[in-house]
Amino acid sequence: MSDKNPYIDELSGTETTGHEWDGIEELNTPMPRWWLWVFYTSIVVALLYAIAMPSIPLLNSHFKGVLGHSDRAAVNQEMEEMQARRAVFATKLLDTDLETIQADPELFRFAMAAGKSAFGDNCATCHGSGAQGFKGYPNLNDDIWLWGGSFEDILHTLKVGIRATHEDTRIGLMQAYGRDGLLTADQISDLAHYVQNLSGNGIDAEAALRAAPLFQETCSTCHGTTGMGDRAQGAPNLTDAEWLYGGSYADITQTLYGGRQGVMPNWNERLPSETISALAVYVHSLGGGEDTPPINTENLP
Ligand code: HEC
Ligand code: HEC
Repeated sequence: MSDKNPYIDELSGTETTGHEWDGIEELNTPMPRWWLWVFYTSIVVALLYAIAMPSIPLLNSHFKGVLGHSDRAAVNQEMEEMQARRAVFATKLLDTDLETIQADPELFRFAMAAGKSAFGDNCATCHGSGAQGFKGYPNLNDDIWLWGGSFEDILHTLKVGIRATHEDTRIGLMQAYGRDGLLTADQISDLAHYVQNLSGNGIDAEAALRAAPLFQETCSTCHGTTGMGDRAQGAPNLTDAEWLYGGSYADITQTLYGGRQGVMPNWNERLPSETISALAVYVHSLGGGEDTPPINTENLP
């Protein structure tokens, strides 16, 4: 025991609190200096922060802080800037042809991103998330087109829809030849063999042969004398072994018996024009996009 301070632990030489139980003493070890500095500094920083930034709640609002910072204002400003940037792109997308869009890499990237996201929101339900299509809903990745695969064709299809409510909607009539009594069951059966035969899939060549005149008489106005189809009427090519409604004998007889009237809504009232342009860029890029057909000058005045 030291003379100066009776509360010094003999073994460690450290001051004690004076508490002692059965010879076990409580040492009074001071906080390490570095720890105290960190502690005091953090108090000072917290105070400065509370003065600088929005902090203390008041009755109806809050203390705005000397710096006047606001996360909400910052987000609003960013949104405004983004919308301004988008607006520039959006106007550029209107009434533009594909060449102009492709010539501007930034605009093209914007259109692709906007088109892809709008496709997921509006089109994937019917055409599939990869645009692969389902029975009755065309695959948009391949180069087979009912109504045409140029940028302008796709844009027009999207605006007016197919058998939709738009006054200029695309319309093509595949009638219910069986249900409406236009053809007999035998004729339909023969025609189904004929159609199968067109894509080299025939099983009953005799039946196909029997139906040849009937096909020319009844079906060729839309599907063409060789069965290659007619885009002006949305009549599919029957020779390519790719089927919208299935190519089995049963599928084809069903098509002929009950008719087919695939409906796609017109998007002109549902989506802004720039979104429709972006969608056309995106769909065109999926793999089957065609070049713009040369303008037919014969019909021009
Ligand atoms: C309600 C279902 C439905 C939705 C939603 C839908 N489609 Fe369609 N779409 C169809 C059907 C059915 C057809 C085929 C119509 C026919 O048989 O002629 C079609 C045809 C098309 C065609 C023409 C294909 C060709 O071969 O000419 C394009 C292009 C197209 N859709 C793109 C889109 C895009 C882009 C969207 C999203 C904005 C969309 N569709 C949303 C049902 C839909
Ligand atoms: C007035 C025009 C028109 C006539 C006539 C017509 N078709 Fe069609 N046909 C269409 C259209 C349009 C479609 C596509 C319907 C759709 O997309 O929903 C179609 C679809 C089909 C399909 C389905 C093809 C597929 O990919 O699944 C077959 C098969 C077919 N027609 C066979 C015939 C046969 C056989 C005849 C004669 C009895 C005939 N069509 C007469 C317009 C016509």
